[in-house]
Amino acid sequence: MAPVPKGGTIAVTGSAGFIGSWVVRRLLDKGYRVRACVRDVDDAAKTDFLRNMGGYASGRLTLHSANLDDAGCFDEIFKGCHGVCHVSHVSDYNDHEYVRMVCNHIIGSVNKAETVTRVIVTSSIAAVISEADIYEIKRRPVCYEDRYPDEQNPKRTPERGQGYSMGKVIAQRAFSDAAEENGNWDAITCCPADNVGPIQSAHQKDMGPWQHNIEMMLLGEFFQNDAYRPWMTVDVRDDAECHIGLLESVDVNNGERYIAWSTDTRNVEDVCASIDRLLPELKHDTPEVTDPFPDRIKAREDELRGIWACCELRNDRIRSVVPITFRSLDESIRDCVESLLTVAKVPVVRRSE
Ligand SMILES: NC(=O)c1ccc[n+]([C@@H]2O[C@H](COP(=O)([O-])OP(=O)(O)OC[C@H]3O[C@@H](n4cnc5c(N)ncnc54)[C@H](OP(=O)(O)O)[C@@H]3O)[C@@H](O)[C@H]2O)c1
Repeated sequence: MAPVPKGGTIAVTGSAGFIGSWVVRRLLDKGYRVRACVRDVDDAAKTDFLRNMGGYASGRLTLHSANLDDAGCFDEIFKGCHGVCHVSHVSDYNDHEYVRMVCNHIIGSVNKAETVTRVIVTSSIAAVISEADIYEIKRRPVCYEDRYPDEQNPKRTPERGQGYSMGKVIAQRAFSDAAEENGNWDAITCCPADNVGPIQSAHQKDMGPWQHNIEMMLLGEFFQNDAYRPWMTVDVRDDAECHIGLLESVDVNNGERYIAWSTDTRNVEDVCASIDRLLPELKHDTPEVTDPFPDRIKAREDELRGIWACCELRNDRIRSVVPITFRSLDESIRDCVESLLTVAKVPVVRRSE
């Protein structure tokens, strides 16, 4: 199917969110017309920063209230759009009937519009690597697009914490099946890694989770995460570029998915230590990591870290279809910290000297 025309009209769901708002900003920077979908345009704390973007003043950016849970609410918004970036979360990843239902709401509106040729569906690397059995990472350490978490594992259930990654795979397939059936648009899935980078509005400090974790570090407390999995990161601005690159690419096909991943990995305590290394003027009082895991997980710390250390990351596929050079994690951390200080006024704990 055709990529979106340069300067065309793109709808973005989840526009008040961390990733969605960067997709909006970069689309505007690149000359597109943007319909930013939020749940409530009157929620000033979440939407005023969008109104402060230059494109809003000229009318190139418009804001629209739409809740995924309401069938048909995207019908009018998508009319005349060339592309849709479906970035938003859903309200409940554990209820897979609900996930299918909200996918169908978006799909129905795309089909009715008859002008959309491409939908980018935001998934996650969780849909690549979230294993019910960590030894799958040991058995299959190379993480690329053709790799899915072992779907035969009986522990792969929402009750065992797999709802998010399962919901993302369901959404990916719902969109590509619907696109194939329709024949006039295609659905390309983007699987972002852990997003780090600058927030654009104070409310985004509490979302995340990664920028919120950095906020916690600045406040003097942070936690070991994901059973000693290191952060596997992408800068949020590069993630936005990947979404837009996939909208524009002539080399992608319906049903494909692409990992948006810089290939940087860093343990959480090293992420925290990076703040003082990168910004010594801040005099950040680097806190100790709190390990919240039960003793049975703590006893396996060396083994779990060893498994993750052998996990090989690949982003070859997205680099072959999107012109992107990924920023370093250092740059993402520095800019995240500075935005938390300036945009959200986070009161950093400082060393007394
Ligand atoms: N952050 C990451 O590291 C990361 C990594 C991999 C994948 N992802 C995926 O990337 C996407 C965006 O993540 P994010 O970090 O930008 O999340 P975020 O900052 O929490 O923003 C998500 C947005 O989803 C919207 N939303 C939630 N439920 C909705 C509903 N029922 N109807 C309409 N909108 C709804 C919210 O809109 P309102 O604010 O308007 O209420 C919110 O702004 C998600 O699909 C997530 O799974 C994120």
